[in-house]
Amino acid sequence: MSKKVAVLPGDGIGQEIVAEAIKVLNVLQSDFGLSVETENGLIGGAAYDAHGTPLPDQTMDIAREADAVLLGAVGGYQWESLDIAVRPEKGLLGIRAGLGLFSNLRPAILYPQLASASTLREDVVSGLDLMIVRELTGGIYFGQPRGIRTLEGGERQGFNTLVYAEHEIERIGRSAFEIAMKRDKRITSVDKANVLESTELWREVMERVAKDYPEVELSHMYVDNAAMQLVRAPKQFDVMVTTNMFGDILSDCAAMLTGSIGMLPSASLDANGKGMYEPIHGSAPDIAGQNIANPLATILSVSMMLRYSLDEAEMADRIDRAVDSVLDGGLRTRDIHSDGMQEVSCSAMGDAVVAALCS
Ligand code: IPM
Ligand code: MG
Repeated sequence: MSKKVAVLPGDGIGQEIVAEAIKVLNVLQSDFGLSVETENGLIGGAAYDAHGTPLPDQTMDIAREADAVLLGAVGGYQWESLDIAVRPEKGLLGIRAGLGLFSNLRPAILYPQLASASTLREDVVSGLDLMIVRELTGGIYFGQPRGIRTLEGGERQGFNTLVYAEHEIERIGRSAFEIAMKRDKRITSVDKANVLESTELWREVMERVAKDYPEVELSHMYVDNAAMQLVRAPKQFDVMVTTNMFGDILSDCAAMLTGSIGMLPSASLDANGKGMYEPIHGSAPDIAGQNIANPLATILSVSMMLRYSLDEAEMADRIDRAVDSVLDGGLRTRDIHSDGMQEVSCSAMGDAVVAALCS
């Protein structure tokens, strides 16, 4: 029986980049014997416009029934003034929580071909291979109580709550240690344990989980220092595990080390390995509709999906090799363009990956 993939392009450049990823998936089906069924759904602003909610029940049903979800991006200027409860981002947070996708893997790998595209010196970033494991369904993103209240006297106050229960810390810890076991066996747990009790507990639970993985070396770092170390000497890290919000921030920072956020895929996994795959960049409304976005992060997300959720490692390898050879050939979208390279559009980049797959 063929596996099912829910395809949720979302908003902004989400439409364009997912279209390129689907080209790649289609050619794996037509020419290489891959068998998957896809079903499209609406999420984010597109879903709000059609149904008045950023996460329609129908989309959740499609996602629940699928073996994996491929997502583009959500959000855009036209929805920014909406009530926070129906903003596009709520759709993304809702599907993450609804599917129980607590473990978000955000690899930051520097393609040697792009070393000169990074804003950091080549010797600082070349050879970079870092995995950020971000807790995705807890912390301040979901903690209650939250809101904006009016104080006595009429002044308004915004408030959010950073909460982590032991089981939430433990499961993301285990997820990170399992990944470290397949890598260089070093984990840096990032917290703010000197100020925040919730991350004091985070640190304690990480120490406890570490006892089950004696081969893995665990160290702790405060988030401010981690941000500094990421740009000072990023190659010191193997796996970083951290909270939802710290992971959001540090993963953008790590992405830039690799030259462009347009290159990086991510996987969000539940306890059974079912996953949602998406580029780590957003919907980039400023360049939407211009056919200049970089589709590689989404194409590489398809590769991660094949590897982690669909048990098709060989297909994933094909995609990875095709992307490599396109970069070798000097093709670059605008975000990764540098002197001497050939600038191509989003769709031309997708076509080039397809051509490389078939060559
Ligand atoms: C990300 C994004 C999302 C997040 C937004 C769009 C809600 O920045 O996936 O990193 O903050 O998690
Ligand atoms: Mg982010």
